[in-house]
Amino acid sequence: MKPNFRVFATCDFGEALNLLRQRGYEVEVYANPDPPPKSLILEKVRSGIDGLISSLRDKIDAEVFEAGKGTLKVVSQYSVGVDNINRADANRYKIPFTNTPDVLTEATAEYAFFMLGALARRLWQAERMTRENHWDSWHPSLPFLGNEVTGKTIAVIGTGRIGQAMIKKCVGFDMNVLCYQAGRENTKFAGAIQEIMDLRHHHGLTAHKQWIKYVSFEDALRQADFVSLHVPLLRESESPNPTYHMLNEHTLRLMKPSAMIINTARGPVIDEVALARALKENWIAGAALDVYATEPLPADSPLRDPAIEDRCRLYPHHGSATYETRLSPDPNRGMSGRCVQGLIDVLESNYGGDLPKMPFVVNKEAFVK
Ligand code: GLV
Repeated sequence: MKPNFRVFATCDFGEALNLLRQRGYEVEVYANPDPPPKSLILEKVRSGIDGLISSLRDKIDAEVFEAGKGTLKVVSQYSVGVDNINRADANRYKIPFTNTPDVLTEATAEYAFFMLGALARRLWQAERMTRENHWDSWHPSLPFLGNEVTGKTIAVIGTGRIGQAMIKKCVGFDMNVLCYQAGRENTKFAGAIQEIMDLRHHHGLTAHKQWIKYVSFEDALRQADFVSLHVPLLRESESPNPTYHMLNEHTLRLMKPSAMIINTARGPVIDEVALARALKENWIAGAALDVYATEPLPADSPLRDPAIEDRCRLYPHHGSATYETRLSPDPNRGMSGRCVQGLIDVLESNYGGDLPKMPFVVNKEAFVK
């Protein structure tokens, strides 16, 4: 017999939702491109749905879990970051939530790398000048020069999946890598990267031997030409190593005046007011941002200050935005497929119904017997 679970999805990601319908699920989708109001989410949850498909735009907290008491069996989040879901509340109500790790790792890391290149080589200014027909002549130093990426030193803050993917891309550009990871340093990964760097040099593929090493957060900031953030957003109440405002006035001032920041992680990891000031007063040389404290970026954000326009690249939370990554219904390829798989695992009691064994359940700790 086909299961007849009821599911509400707060955003439409196409084909993968049909996989649920084919299994006999009743699926209602909020079709508007803007997120649904919280009141609508509460109404749907109160109506007794079994599964809620959420995105990073929806605040999922005690109010939602209370509304789903006794009926809501799973929240399946369409992203890897789950900072919009209150984990302590989910655990209190014993409701599992899932996410979509791995499938967006390469897409996000390559976007971070392209942002780095666009910022350093001033691609936006170059295209704008050409389009606006201000390209008057070829000259050794006019109208402006950029900074070379090849051979420079990058600090990768957070060496989880996306941080590691970023490092692999940096190796191809002969960069030296400073790693920072609170708690658990991945020395095996760093060792493997060093071997590859040595091999490239041994075969004459690089003029200089590159290196990778773990250092303290402060040393990473002090020594790097580029700083790329790859940490989850963790507030003080959530972790002994919170990442909220990890880059603030104090830590921004540790960086070299020539250094640049790339953020594809979460906006609140940086204090945006301090960053705008750091750019304006030239404590640092540039920033390329894909994520913000408030999204979409408000019209009055200090990051939009025309005085820093040449040093501050702004992108619309686009890191995972490729056709394959966002829309593939294959759970091993796309966020859509993986999001739906997480939901199915819980509702259909895969893995013998053992929640901690389900690969996409995030809050396993609430269900360990
Ligand atoms: C995107 O930001 C994600 O967390 O998947």
